[in-house]
Amino acid sequence: MDTKVNLAGVELKNPVMTASGTFGSGEEYSEFVDLSRLGAVVTKGVANVPWPGNPVPRIAETKSGMMNAIGLQNPGIDVFCRRDIPFLKQFDTKIIVNVCGKTMEDYCEVVERLGEEEVDMLEINISCPNVKEGGIAFGQNPKAVEEITAEVKKRAKQPVIMKLSPNVTDITETAKAAEAGGADVLSLINTLTGMKIDIHRRAFALANKTGGLSGPAVKPVAVRMVYQVANAVKLPVIGMGGIETAEDAIEFLLAGASAVSVGTANFYNPSATVQVAEGIEDYLERYGFEHVSDLTGLVK
Ligand SMILES: Cc1cc2nc3c(=O)[nH]c(=O)nc-3n(C[C@H](O)[C@H](O)[C@H](O)COP(=O)(O)O)c2cc1C
Repeated sequence: MDTKVNLAGVELKNPVMTASGTFGSGEEYSEFVDLSRLGAVVTKGVANVPWPGNPVPRIAETKSGMMNAIGLQNPGIDVFCRRDIPFLKQFDTKIIVNVCGKTMEDYCEVVERLGEEEVDMLEINISCPNVKEGGIAFGQNPKAVEEITAEVKKRAKQPVIMKLSPNVTDITETAKAAEAGGADVLSLINTLTGMKIDIHRRAFALANKTGGLSGPAVKPVAVRMVYQVANAVKLPVIGMGGIETAEDAIEFLLAGASAVSVGTANFYNPSATVQVAEGIEDYLERYGFEHVSDLTGLVK
């Protein structure tokens, strides 16, 4: 049985990776999960300088999901390269670094710096709903998506994944813009903008007022968007949004994803990623598929 998938020339041992921001850089989870069992570890977003993130509270539970407004807190690229890359290099998995920034220059600086490091792919977060500048400011406008993709591609030494926002009217427009800018792979979805009010405090549950909704509640939206994007572009797609079991992951593959990321589920089941990878193998065996890649886009 062949569980390998190829994303822009990078071969992953299986299609299961972590979703950025839900797995740190892997260290906290390495007690529960053998990171070498994963197709790739996708790190928390990293910027050119340290970011403190948003004021607390910045996490709230919702039905079948959660909302967060972390605001891309991160230690900056220097600490990341010194501390997190050497840690991840100990494992037999691919390293995908998620990049964030407030301006085009910020993104480019991080991408150039990562060119000197042994990382396998870059994922560019242009879809964070929780920061005022950068992030979503780029991700909702097709012209800006194309421009930032082209600027990043000019400088990147590794294949580039553009991470798309679901907070748009037609996600195929931003997907096509990223393809036109030269993206190698697309990933989707980032979180959906939401709001929660604490009726006993008569205040917003999150200090940021709004936050990004994730977890099982968003899965049907994510599957629909993966299907739309996979049928609109020629690029491989990494699907995510509410995956907690192998069955969830297989839905994304059948809808057109070449690989999948597990996010919020890591918070309540730290072993979710490995269980998803094992469950996909069982499914392949049960239905007699030789290659996991044969599942991609099977449902038309
Ligand atoms: C607490 C938290 C932090 C996140 N941080 C990032 C981030 O730094 N960069 C990014 O591109 N996405 C970030 N995301 C979005 C996830 O990677 C993923 O796209 C989204 O949560 C949907 O998947 P899920 O429902 O499996 O969590 C974050 C999500 C959560 C819940």
